[in-house]
Amino acid sequence: MKKVKLGKSIPPLPLPVCLLGAEVNGKPNFNTIVWFNMLHDNPPLIGVAMSKRHYTNIGIKENRTFSINIPTSDMVIVTDYCGLRSGSKVDKSKEFELFYGELKTAPMIKECSVNIECKLINKIDFKNTELFIGEIFEIYSDEKYLIDEKLDASELDSFIFLMPNGPYKKIGANLAEAYKVGISYKPKN
Ligand SMILES: Cc1cc2nc3c(=O)[nH]c(=O)nc-3n(C[C@H](O)[C@H](O)[C@H](O)COP(=O)(O)O)c2cc1C
Repeated sequence: MKKVKLGKSIPPLPLPVCLLGAEVNGKPNFNTIVWFNMLHDNPPLIGVAMSKRHYTNIGIKENRTFSINIPTSDMVIVTDYCGLRSGSKVDKSKEFELFYGELKTAPMIKECSVNIECKLINKIDFKNTELFIGEIFEIYSDEKYLIDEKLDASELDSFIFLMPNGPYKKIGANLAEAYKVGISYKPKN
């Protein structure tokens, strides 16, 4: 198989999608983010890379809190909208039913399957980007997603985004049992 060099622009990766919430100038705002990931488990840390141009960044720095909200597949249109329009021009707070946790300034979306309330603990500056590092303060979910009082991620009906330009894709059927299927693998040497 001949490999072809594709350069070093944004690679074609499948990424989860979130609506990131922050309170900007006393009003909730949400933007669509795919550059986010778990960074550490204890303490539990999430990193989010956001362009310095975004309105939401102002609120994260102002209150030192934000939320990560995981949309369900029936929210794909409003999710795309939140990634197309800036809170500096439109009021995105009316698009959702909201709730707040103990941090008080991290707006969360009731319609989302999972809500992660975060405290900002660090910010790293790149040229055009700010990497916000948040410590998870609390995670919320709807009872309907719990099996034996535990969250069952395969039932969340979340969707992914194929970098760099989409489409959004539903998550497909289970492929194999993680941490188990590799046990029977026979190494080549
Ligand atoms: C599918 C999708 C994914 C996006 N992912 C990111 C991202 O990871 N980081 C980022 O800085 N902007 C991302 N954006 C762009 C912002 O969501 C967009 O510019 C938004 O309007 C900013 O809103 P704000 O000005 O209200 O903060 C994404 C947009 C879309 C549609």
